[in-house]
Amino acid sequence: MANKIIFPDNFIWGAATASYQIEGAWNKHGKGESTWDRFTHTPGKIRNNDNGDMANDHYRLWKKDIGLMKKLGLQAYRFSISWPRVLPTGRGKVNQKGLDFYSKLVDGLLSAGIDPFVTLEHWDLPQALEDKGGWTARSTTEAFVEYADVISRALGDRVHSWITHNEPAVVAWLGYETGVHAPGVKDLPASLRAAHHLLLSHGMAVPVIRNNSKDAEVGITLNIGWKVPASNSKMDMDSARLDDGKWFRWFADPVYGRGYPSDMVKHFTKLGGAPNGLDFVQSGDMDTIAVPTDFIGLNYYGRNLHRVEDPNNDPQIFFPHPKTPEHWTEMDWENYPDGLTGVLGRVYFNYNPLKIYITENGASYSTPPDENGNVADVHRTNYLRTHFAAAQRAIQAGVPLAGYFVWSLMDNFEWSFGYSQRFGIVWVNYETQERILKDSAKWYKTVIRKNGF
Ligand code: FCB
Repeated sequence: MANKIIFPDNFIWGAATASYQIEGAWNKHGKGESTWDRFTHTPGKIRNNDNGDMANDHYRLWKKDIGLMKKLGLQAYRFSISWPRVLPTGRGKVNQKGLDFYSKLVDGLLSAGIDPFVTLEHWDLPQALEDKGGWTARSTTEAFVEYADVISRALGDRVHSWITHNEPAVVAWLGYETGVHAPGVKDLPASLRAAHHLLLSHGMAVPVIRNNSKDAEVGITLNIGWKVPASNSKMDMDSARLDDGKWFRWFADPVYGRGYPSDMVKHFTKLGGAPNGLDFVQSGDMDTIAVPTDFIGLNYYGRNLHRVEDPNNDPQIFFPHPKTPEHWTEMDWENYPDGLTGVLGRVYFNYNPLKIYITENGASYSTPPDENGNVADVHRTNYLRTHFAAAQRAIQAGVPLAGYFVWSLMDNFEWSFGYSQRFGIVWVNYETQERILKDSAKWYKTVIRKNGF
């Protein structure tokens, strides 16, 4: 690559993980059961019946993992807190041992010169709350605020970057509509209620966090794909619009004060999702959700081309990449860097966030260690290089992108796919818990050092 790609001063280079995916210790030291514990312990839900009981044993090995981050030169680390580790039944009595774990983790990061970015909810809801309806119940929003209060009071002096929820769309649609994620509910009206309560709890928690953590920046992380019609036929265009509406606008529009998008209200109503209208929306809710935030976190993984098979459709223009590992990751997600430039521009120019972080981007490739113990994950390095360059093009176009968190620091439990997918820049041997820096991690280290490549 001839041209130098240099990032702005103060650009933040990080990596991300999530509690359930790495911690293990699912029932240690007073931790309560989460919906993901319950779900993975139910046979047939997860590929190979894998679970996070042990995962990366990070609860025990966290110091070693901070050592890895230091070795990489990470400037920031995005992790999530396991709600039931701190509040075993969701509300009420605090499990001090659980809280201490995160407090020590934060201290450890700070003394390694790594800035902690804390996500409060990355999917592992206390099962005790799920038993009362989980996100479909309005009372869970109050529980979330209490939880946010406990955490931000305990860590707010040392943590300055807060994310309320990770990908509420995935919780609502995969957790409560299709049921392929915990808690495994399959009920469209319930999923719309869940989406609303996730958003509402975000809006309710932001002022509480601000109050406990002075000078903190607070935001929410949404997943976004580059959704494009494969032709200009109406069916293809409608399909792309609805997909974007469901997965992105349904969440971004309320957060930015626009309410629920009317085309989607119509769509969900037609599907039977709102038999009594949006009766879960109470007066004042939409203002609460639209509370000002300091940034939006975006998780970007690829492009979704929309082609609806129809004999009356216009001639198709359909150019997906060939299915080679260079262009398709092992998740069967397309490697499409230009889409990252696209979504960054689109979000900035449409919604005008003060700041954007890419809170996740990365690729699943299972390249194992060779006989010398090196992991030559060329496809991952290529994926990251092209996506970093795509992000830099957005910055040049005026997008206030302030940081980039690679998903993931290390291989981990990939939800319904179990351990079959490896997203890490660090290899994890799940038998021995040995960690090996992959070639992509070594390359990333030089990017961080040079603030570019
Ligand atoms: C995102 C999740 C993250 C990880 C990546 C691959 O949707 O936030 O936990 O599973 O996908």
